[in-house]
Amino acid sequence: MNVIVCKNYDEMSACAAEILAAQIKEKPNCVLGLATGSTPEGMYANLVAKNKSGEISFADVTSVNLDEYYPLEPTNEQSYRYFMNYHLFDHVNIDKAKTFVPNGLAADPAKEGQDYDAMIDSLGGIDLQVLGIGRNGHIGFNEPDSYLIPGTHVTDLTPSTIAANARFFDSEESVPKKALTMGIGTILSARKIILMVSGADKKAAVMKLLEGNITTECPATFLNVHKNVTLIVTEDAIDR
Ligand code: F6R
Repeated sequence: MNVIVCKNYDEMSACAAEILAAQIKEKPNCVLGLATGSTPEGMYANLVAKNKSGEISFADVTSVNLDEYYPLEPTNEQSYRYFMNYHLFDHVNIDKAKTFVPNGLAADPAKEGQDYDAMIDSLGGIDLQVLGIGRNGHIGFNEPDSYLIPGTHVTDLTPSTIAANARFFDSEESVPKKALTMGIGTILSARKIILMVSGADKKAAVMKLLEGNITTECPATFLNVHKNVTLIVTEDAIDR
């Protein structure tokens, strides 16, 4: 795993944006796998600036997001579709018809998962996947468990994830209890992966990942089997 240690959140955000920008320049019609949450917000702000200055164009880019709450309508301000529009899509020259987020209102979420993976396959796969990590080591919404599911699927959120995400909702009770998420296999099928991590509260998960052992109790450790992962981490989230 390549590891890039950054001084702070701003440096991590700029570094990740550089990697995405390089991907877009190398392959203007690339497929980007995108994440939500607090971690990538600064990266998106950098990408918007690079698009506005003319450095990069999203005209031919396709995006596929990692996950979406279930059930939740895309117009809900806490939905990940809303987040992506707010932080990136509304501010860059991307064709929204080529931006995909799992459908939080799917009548048949199991079928939505299968269709989502088939759609990613039909695009030729993901060129570069952006990930954040949960304090418990989740990636996407693949939570620690005795087994992990390979494909995109509907999953129960753990109490710790519901509590961590309650900051975005009016109350903990209004956080949806389920999500649609790319599975570990979907994530690992990306050709390149960057994992962004910021903050001392993520250090335990980062150190577990860097131990190199693979365990379903820390889903991020599965990144150790991938050949092209770059960890971009702030210095307070890693012991050296
Ligand atoms: C978001 C996602 C999650 C987050 C993780 C960290 O699409 O899949 O795995 O990356 O929960 O969230 P933040 O960045 O808010 O700490």
